[in-house]
Amino acid sequence: MSKLNKIKGFSDLFPPQSSVFVFMEEKARQVFKRYGCKEIRIPVLEKTELFARTIGDETDIVQKEMYTFLDRKGRSLTLRPEATAGVLRAYIESQLHSRERVSKLFTFGPMFRYERPQKGRTRQFHQINVEVLGTQAPQADAELLIMLWAYLESLGLSGSLVLEINSLGCPECRPGFHQKLVDFLQALDQDKLCDDCRRRSRVNPLRVLDCKVPTCKSLVQNAPRICDHLCPDCKKHFEAVLSVLEEAGLSYRLNPFLVRGLDYYQRTTFEIVSSAIGAQTAVAGGGRYDGLCKALGGPDVPGLGFACGMERLALLLTDIKEQRMDFYLAVLHEQALNKALLLAQRLRKAGYAGEVSFEVKSVKSQLRLANKLNVKTCLLLGVDEIERGEIVVKDMQTGVQQAVSQDDLEQALGLNLS
Ligand code: HAM
Repeated sequence: MSKLNKIKGFSDLFPPQSSVFVFMEEKARQVFKRYGCKEIRIPVLEKTELFARTIGDETDIVQKEMYTFLDRKGRSLTLRPEATAGVLRAYIESQLHSRERVSKLFTFGPMFRYERPQKGRTRQFHQINVEVLGTQAPQADAELLIMLWAYLESLGLSGSLVLEINSLGCPECRPGFHQKLVDFLQALDQDKLCDDCRRRSRVNPLRVLDCKVPTCKSLVQNAPRICDHLCPDCKKHFEAVLSVLEEAGLSYRLNPFLVRGLDYYQRTTFEIVSSAIGAQTAVAGGGRYDGLCKALGGPDVPGLGFACGMERLALLLTDIKEQRMDFYLAVLHEQALNKALLLAQRLRKAGYAGEVSFEVKSVKSQLRLANKLNVKTCLLLGVDEIERGEIVVKDMQTGVQQAVSQDDLEQALGLNLS
C-alpha cells in the first residue's frame, strides 16, 4: 500500500514548534484586546467569486495560486488565500456596520496559496489578521501600526524588524500616475523584463514596481513614484499618518516601490520586513482599502488592516521553550496505579500541570523519564508509601527527596516548585 504522506507545502506542527504558535496567538489576544479588538472566526472556504472580486482578477494570487474546486453541486469554491475578503463578507452579511460605528476584528487561521514552497513560504500557512472598519482617520492607520509594533515587541522581535511604508493614492490620483507608469514601462526594453513583468506591464503595471527579479528591480529604479503624484487629500492623509508615527516614536522607512500583491489597497500600505529569514522578507503586511466594502455590495465603509505570517514570525522566535510541566508521578507498584491517578487529579485541580504513569517501571527508568519530561519534581508512589499514607517528593534539580503525607501533597509540591 502506498504511504499516506502530507501534501507538499503543508506541514504538521508538533511541540516545541506548536508552542511557538500558541505563544504568538496568546500574545496577540493580550495586545489586541488593549486596543478594543474582538476575535472572530470565519470559514476557510468561500465562493471563488469573493476572492476574484476582492483581491483582483489580475493578481498572482487569483491567477495562479488559489486552491479552487467544484463542490458536488458544481459550485466553484476556494480555500481562502487570505482573510480580509472573508472578514468583509462576514461584516457585510451580519450587518455589523449597523450596530457599530467602528469595528476592530481579528482572527487567526490557515490560508492556502499554491506557491513554490521555500523557506518562509508554504502552501498552507497561518496568519494573524486584523481589520478595522468604519474610520477614515489617519490616526486609525497610525494606531493600527502602533498596535502591530506593540505586538511584535511583546514577542521580543521589534529590534530586528523594519516598518516600510508607502501611499498608493486613491481613485482620484491613481489614474494619472498609472498612465505615467505605463508610458515609462513601455519605453523600457521589454526583453529585459521577466515574463511575469511583461504581462504585468500590460494588465497590472503597479506590480512591476515590486518584482523581486534583480533585472526588473534595477530597470524600475527610475520609474515614476506614486508618492510624487498623490492628490492633495491623499498627501494630507499620508503626512498625517507619518506625523503621528513620528510623535509616537515609531521609526519607519519610506519605500516608494511598496505596492503589495493584492489590488484592494488605497492610500497607506506597509510591510514589516526582516533581513534574517531569507528571501521571503515580509513578516507582516497590510494597508487601507477604503472602496472595498462598497465594491463587495456593502455600505461605503472605509477599512484597513494587516496580517502577520505566523510561519515567518516563528522563524525568528527560536528561543521559545515549551511550557515545563510541574510534576511527574511515577508508579512503583501495580496496587498504586489507581491511587496515583487520583492524587494527580487532586494536584491538577489545585492548578498544577503534570503527568502520571500508566504502568509500573523501575525507579531508575521512571526518573529517566521524569528527566526527559524536564519536570521540576518527580513524585514516587509504591505500596510502602500507600500503607503509610505518604508519597516521595524528589527535587529533580537538587536530587533531594523526602516522604511527605499524602494529605500535605499540594503544599509540599508548592514548596518544591517555588
Ligand atoms: P499578504 O502580504 O499577502 O497580505 O500576506 C500577509 C503575510 O502573510 C505576509 O507578509 C507573509 O508574512 C505571510 N504569507 C503570505 N504568503 C505566505 C506563504 N505562502 N507562506 C508563508 N507566509 C506567507 C494579506 O494577506 C492581506 N490580507 C493583509 C491585510 C489584511 N491587508 C489588510 N488587511
